[in-house]
Amino acid sequence: MQTHAIRLEAAGDPSVMQLVEIDLPDPAPGEVQLRHTAIGVNFIDTYHRSGLYPVKFPSGLGQEAAGVVEKLGEGVTDFKVGDRVAYPNGPLGSYARQRNMPAARLVPIPDGISDEVAAGSLMRGMTAQYLLKQTFEVKPGMTVLIHAAAGGVGQIACQWAQALGATVIGTAGSEAKCRLARPFCDHVIDYTNEHFAERVHLLTGNQGVPVVYDGVGAATFEGSLASLAPRGLLVSFGNASGPVPPFSPNLLASKGSLYLTRPTLGNYASTRAELLAMAADYFAIVASGRVRVTVNQRYPLADAAQAHRDLEARKTTGSTVLIP
Ligand SMILES: NC(=O)c1ccc[n+]([C@@H]2O[C@H](COP(=O)([O-])OP(=O)(O)OC[C@H]3O[C@@H](n4cnc5c(N)ncnc54)[C@H](OP(=O)(O)O)[C@@H]3O)[C@@H](O)[C@H]2O)c1
Repeated sequence: MQTHAIRLEAAGDPSVMQLVEIDLPDPAPGEVQLRHTAIGVNFIDTYHRSGLYPVKFPSGLGQEAAGVVEKLGEGVTDFKVGDRVAYPNGPLGSYARQRNMPAARLVPIPDGISDEVAAGSLMRGMTAQYLLKQTFEVKPGMTVLIHAAAGGVGQIACQWAQALGATVIGTAGSEAKCRLARPFCDHVIDYTNEHFAERVHLLTGNQGVPVVYDGVGAATFEGSLASLAPRGLLVSFGNASGPVPPFSPNLLASKGSLYLTRPTLGNYASTRAELLAMAADYFAIVASGRVRVTVNQRYPLADAAQAHRDLEARKTTGSTVLIP
């Protein structure tokens, strides 16, 4: 059958994303054919598109979507035609109307969770899950620092950290974004006009925080280290402002015997059991109402380039989806 998908012939600015007609074969053994209903737009998609994370061309783009199972490949028993499913982390090619997916990479969408919420937040929600519960276990009474609190991962992580009993210090890049982040942070810092590490020390009685969750990267790296208590952990999980430049491990010594980790969702959801357990944990906290997901931007699939421009220009808040 024929369908439409975004294809990249080379890395570059958003204009390299072209919506083209492609041939979609029947699903191979172990695969299902999906009709997408909503497609997640994540910051990592911009890294694949720009060349920061190299991909092989020609390539599809996007790692996350929700949809309906339309055909089953041989040997697929976990799903049936008509099931609502989602996937959080590839393989590349979610920017498409229909696609074939390995069934082992899919999770069922529970009743009560919309396709838009699943598509716009499963990757971000599962990321918050492992950051707060596995990379560093957030416990009641702790104070944690979470950057880009008005963003996709940020909104979810701040609410979830509060639900775990932590005091949350969030940062955001404008007065309007600070207002948006305020309901799910105990303190919000506009890091475009304030030295956030100094504020963190003021707020913690000069102790610093035991953990910083930093998806901003280059721009916040030094301030994040300076915000930590001795032996604290910097969780550097993204590069929204560019990748952290190389540095000597002695820097960690001079800042207080600090720890640094650079985790990825792929390493935490590497088995089917992990994928299902993390997705179920995430959907459960959304269903409980303690984490509210806001899908604040919707674009037609053909306007994927505009979605990337807005994301990279810091114009978005919460989650973003493409409508196929
Ligand atoms: N490692 C993993 O497993 C994993 C998984 C998912 C996502 N991530 C990472 O988590 C981060 C957040 O992802 P997301 O998709 O939810 O994006 P997002 O937070 O919705 O958007 C990124 C935000 O970063 C902030 N930012 C600061 N400096 C920036 C700059 N120079 N250019 C652009 N943005 C800047 C902006 O918020 P302000 O304007 O408020 O500063 C922007 O809205 C990304 O770094 C992403 O790669 C990592």
